[in-house]
Amino acid sequence: MELTLYKRLQLFIRSCSMNLKHQKLSELCSKCVISLFIIYVLLCIKSSWLTGPSPTKLGHTAAVFDSAGTLHKYNSETSPIVFIGGHPRSGTTLMRAMLDAHVKVRCGEESRIIPRIVQMRDNWFRSEKEKDRLIQGGVDDKVIDAAMSSFILETIAQHGEPAEVLCNKDPLTLKSGEYISSLFPKSKWLFMMRDGRAVINSVISRKVTISGYQLDNPRQCLGKWNTVVKNMNEQCNKIGSERCMIVYYEQLVLHPKRWMTLILDFLDLPWDESVLHHEEKINKPGGVRVSMVERSSDQIIKPINVDALTTWVGNFPQDLLDDMDAVAPMLEKFGYDPSKNPPFYGMPDGVVLNNTNDVHQKREQWEIKSKQLIAQMDKKRPA
Ligand code: A3P
Repeated sequence: MELTLYKRLQLFIRSCSMNLKHQKLSELCSKCVISLFIIYVLLCIKSSWLTGPSPTKLGHTAAVFDSAGTLHKYNSETSPIVFIGGHPRSGTTLMRAMLDAHVKVRCGEESRIIPRIVQMRDNWFRSEKEKDRLIQGGVDDKVIDAAMSSFILETIAQHGEPAEVLCNKDPLTLKSGEYISSLFPKSKWLFMMRDGRAVINSVISRKVTISGYQLDNPRQCLGKWNTVVKNMNEQCNKIGSERCMIVYYEQLVLHPKRWMTLILDFLDLPWDESVLHHEEKINKPGGVRVSMVERSSDQIIKPINVDALTTWVGNFPQDLLDDMDAVAPMLEKFGYDPSKNPPFYGMPDGVVLNNTNDVHQKREQWEIKSKQLIAQMDKKRPA
């Protein structure tokens, strides 16, 4: 490249000196301008070759070996990561188990640390003083974003077997969906939505601790549900309908085939019948890995069934039912009738009815299986 430029300059100077004798000064000037312009363009091309694309667009690459010793690489800018979010107890574990059953996808257990690190960043930015300290220390947005994307990607990539498409289910990450989706521009998001009354009944009856929720005060919990899903819905809208899809828990369990077809289509994944039989892949290699301490583990080991749809009915005091519309206006926004206890969610597909009957008729067998599977889930801590 340099040689070409050098030769061009030599030729140019030689032609200038020859021309000086024969041509007018004005002609010479125009030639000079054109040549200088060509040199400028060539130098620009050369410099862009040397520096490559802007470093901010390189993203972070995580590399993982699978059990067969093959290296898999994932990049925050280019990998199609799937994030599953929603209010806890909205069917997020079932959703990820169904995707985990897909031959090309691996979600795995909740990481728990991803929403926490993002929350830490929110806390740094909440204080103007701290923000200024960071900037003065050279820790600007670019540094933080690079660190965040590397932390999130490494956590997702390293905490399970590699797969063609990685997926993460930490329900509360959707609270920061807009930010995380900017770090992972090829990511897609599934927002699990469920009737807030069923969600809060589940939180209270199963004693699921969520910070700020008073488990002896269903009215307060329903208000919290309302705030969380309102915020998540805003985040989902900001991510955009091309990349964020709302999945209604009730519809997923009533019509799993129809909804999984839509979901896989949205995620650009081919159809895989296994997603309808996630329970057959629990604890199996390349299947659905489960944590023995997650609250939904003894529920997702069962086939998809409608048992949890209406268990909330009869568990809320009348004064709260009367105020439901005001306490949780997001119910109506998402199409749940706040005055119906319960609303009509729909008729289940035949296969779901069979599953539900099976779970009822073989209750004891399911109990035994559940204990065996949960015992298998125990991951021994390193000594
Ligand atoms: P309940 O607690 O009302 O039973 P999450 O995983 O987001 O915390 O959601 C938990 C809810 O998903 C639970 O609601 C649970 O019953 C439901 N769920 C889990 N596995 C299921 C399955 N196989 N079929 C239907 N619902 C399931």
